[in-house]
Amino acid sequence: MASTPGYVASIDQGTTSTRAMVFDRRGRVVSVEQLEHRQIFPRAGWVEHDPAEIWRNTRRVVAAALASADLTVADIVACGLTNQRETTVAWDRSTGEPLHNAIVWQDTRTGALCEELGGDAGADRYRTRTGLPLSTYFAGPKMRWLIDNVDAVAERARNGELCFGTMDSWIAWNMTGGPTGGQHITDVTNASRTMLMDLETLTWDETICADMGIPVEALPDIRSSSEVYGSLRGHGSLPGVQFAGILGDQQAATFGQACLSPGEAKNTYGTGNFLLLNTGTEAVFSDHGLLTTVCYRIGEDAPRYALEGSIAVTGSLVQWLRDNLGLFSEAADVEKLAAQVDDNGGVYFVPAFSGLFAPRWRPDARGIITGLTRFADKRHIARAALEASAFQTREVIEAMQADSGVRLSTLKVDGGMVVNNLLMQFQADILDVPVIRPVVNETTALGAAYAAGLAVGYWDSEDEIRENWNEHTRWNPAMDAPVRDRLYGEWNRAVEHSYGLA
Ligand code: G3P
Repeated sequence: MASTPGYVASIDQGTTSTRAMVFDRRGRVVSVEQLEHRQIFPRAGWVEHDPAEIWRNTRRVVAAALASADLTVADIVACGLTNQRETTVAWDRSTGEPLHNAIVWQDTRTGALCEELGGDAGADRYRTRTGLPLSTYFAGPKMRWLIDNVDAVAERARNGELCFGTMDSWIAWNMTGGPTGGQHITDVTNASRTMLMDLETLTWDETICADMGIPVEALPDIRSSSEVYGSLRGHGSLPGVQFAGILGDQQAATFGQACLSPGEAKNTYGTGNFLLLNTGTEAVFSDHGLLTTVCYRIGEDAPRYALEGSIAVTGSLVQWLRDNLGLFSEAADVEKLAAQVDDNGGVYFVPAFSGLFAPRWRPDARGIITGLTRFADKRHIARAALEASAFQTREVIEAMQADSGVRLSTLKVDGGMVVNNLLMQFQADILDVPVIRPVVNETTALGAAYAAGLAVGYWDSEDEIRENWNEHTRWNPAMDAPVRDRLYGEWNRAVEHSYGLA
């Protein structure tokens, strides 16, 4: 085991909040601080974040995480960064000023643009090169929208003064150099979510950039997920600390869950659900609606790839019940409400707020509640909302099994919703597979810490990561097969009713 003293810091810039965490060598949480940021909804289907607010929150949570554990910067040997993927920022290269709000991954404004880009070839036009279908989800079309619709972006693009990046690039730019002149970098996992990177060469695909009208010089340098990128500057509260890991949040969680061998998979229950299966050095292309993406790349090692099932709305549906319907005041109360009834009473909630992502890819779908009768009340709606996460996960797992030929024997889970016993038990029941959560549930931040710590020799090898993983809770399936089949059949019927509503 390595003998470097100290701790590793990790910044997790997520869809609803930014957190800073500090980990010790055993992968245990030493400190955590978190701040939420505003969700901006300028129109139906549009979702934006304020990049300046996110950077401000990043600085604050880092400083608070050190202070609350009585640490100084001298205790931190390296810092990793993980982030909500695809969310796109444009800023001025000379002033560092954002030129527009960030366009969030959930935003659907590029629907018509994606159809136009697909042309006769359709949504799979770039799939063999990028692993992705043309969808509002990804960053490239969001960049194109910014050039077409925001004068300041178009002007900077013409003058070579534009920086485009996903959230990792925006934070890295600010952490490494202050407003005017940080490093403009991203890692392979984040770059693989733009639709602009060739999955094999791991470089920007100039033909796709040209098709989308995106100047390649505005894009960041693509680096590995684990290497020393440079030292952090004073502006980010960790002056002089080695900045040594970047991973998109779902890839970071895969790493933090020690899914380091082909065939290992995890499912994260966050704003959405994201199931990633490590496929090793082979990029496997899906015939069943999954994405092919870079899982991670450690320094100069060969990249590892993953098959991914992305579900747009799971945890954010609970927030919607809280904020838009006022069904409860704390998200955790959804479980109490749902547990007051024995079953869903025939109610199904299809949360197609951003269309449907994997495995169906239906941009024309919209959210619906089906099966309502005078009998149904808010308890059934709460239950149906939780069950929707589990049904959608089963769809993705069925697609993954069909693509890989491997039947999952257990499901490793993490994320905010795994504290919800009702959901986890229902998940095990509807899959007929045991569901397991690890002791450290903060796998996203932990994965980025591991990437940074490996690069500086704080951890010696991936074996230490495997050793640090320990089981916390296991939910075993307990539902009779006929009940499971009936519920899943009814869910499938409900989903079909959500089509054609956009
Ligand atoms: O692809 C979107 C994903 O990275 C968002 O993750 O955890 O911020 O909802 P999260």
